[in-house]
Amino acid sequence: MSLQLIQEIAALRALVAGWRHVGDRVALVPTMGNLHAGHLTLVREARRIADRALVSLFVNPLQFGPKEDFAAYPRTLERDRELLEAEGADLLFAPTLHTVYPRGQENQTRVEVPGLSDILCGATRPGHFVGVSTLVCKLFNMVQPDIAIFGEKDFQQLLVIRRMVDDLCLPVDVRGLATARGADGLAMSSRNGYLTSEQRSRAPALYQALCRAGDRLRQGAAVSEVESRGNKELTANGFRPEYFSVRRAADLQSATKEDEDLVVLAAAYLGRARLIDNLRVFQLRTAAPSDPQASSASE
Ligand code: PAF
Repeated sequence: MSLQLIQEIAALRALVAGWRHVGDRVALVPTMGNLHAGHLTLVREARRIADRALVSLFVNPLQFGPKEDFAAYPRTLERDRELLEAEGADLLFAPTLHTVYPRGQENQTRVEVPGLSDILCGATRPGHFVGVSTLVCKLFNMVQPDIAIFGEKDFQQLLVIRRMVDDLCLPVDVRGLATARGADGLAMSSRNGYLTSEQRSRAPALYQALCRAGDRLRQGAAVSEVESRGNKELTANGFRPEYFSVRRAADLQSATKEDEDLVVLAAAYLGRARLIDNLRVFQLRTAAPSDPQASSASE
C-alpha cells in the first residue's frame, strides 16, 4: 500500500483507529523532516517491530531559541515523502502550525521534565527540552502509538522523553536506536548539511574524541581529565565546544569512578553547524582481592 499523507488530527485518528480495530500495532517515528539515512533506519525498525509505521514531520518552533535556525531549518516535504514511500512507511503525518498550536505557541500548555531538561544541551538551549517534551506529548496524544522510536544521537532527548512517559503514565513503549554513522564515524544529522566540504572532512573528529575519551575511561583516567582532554581535542580541530562531559547514563548526573554505565556527551559548533554526539561506555569496576564482592562474584 502506498504512503498516505495526512495533516488533520481527525483523519489521523480515524485511520489509526481502523488499524487498531484489526489488532495492528502502530509505531511512530517523530521527525522534523529533511530525512537522512539515520531517520530511515528508524522507519525500518518501526516496520520490523510493528504492523504499521507512522512518521510525523513537524518543524517545532517551540524547541528553537530566538537566535536559532528555525527559519533556516530545511523543509523538504516532497523528497521526504518519496523516501518514506520507498521505505514502505504507511503514513506521513505532517500537521500545520495551526493544528499543533491552535492558540499560538505562546499560549500553549507546556510539559516540562525538570532537572534532566536543564543540564547539558538544556543549559545552552534554555527552553529547548520543554519544546521537545510538549510537542512529543502532543504527538503521542494525537497518534496514540503503541511504540515510539527515537535515535540515540539525541541521548538527552531520549531520556527526557522516557521520563515524561514514566511521570505522566503515557501508554507508549519508547525505544532508542543506535546512532547511524557515516563510514568515517560522523553521526548522521540534518545539521550536517550546514557544513562546508572542508568542515565536513574535519567533522569526524567529534566522534574520534568521544572514542578516545571512552578508551581513557576504561583505562582508569579521571573524569575531569577525560573531559578537559576532550575539550582540547575539539578546539584543536577547529570546533567551538559547548560541553564535553562524562555522565551517568541512567540520569545524566555527574559521574564518579564508581559508576559502571557512563555516557560521554559532546556538543560543539563547527562553523555554523551545532553538532552533538555521544558514546556509551561500560566500565567494569574490578574488585580488589580483599573486597567482599570479589568472592561473592566468583561463587
Ligand atoms: O529529534 C527530533 O527530530 C525532534 O526533537 C523531535 C523529537 C521530532 C521533536 O520535535
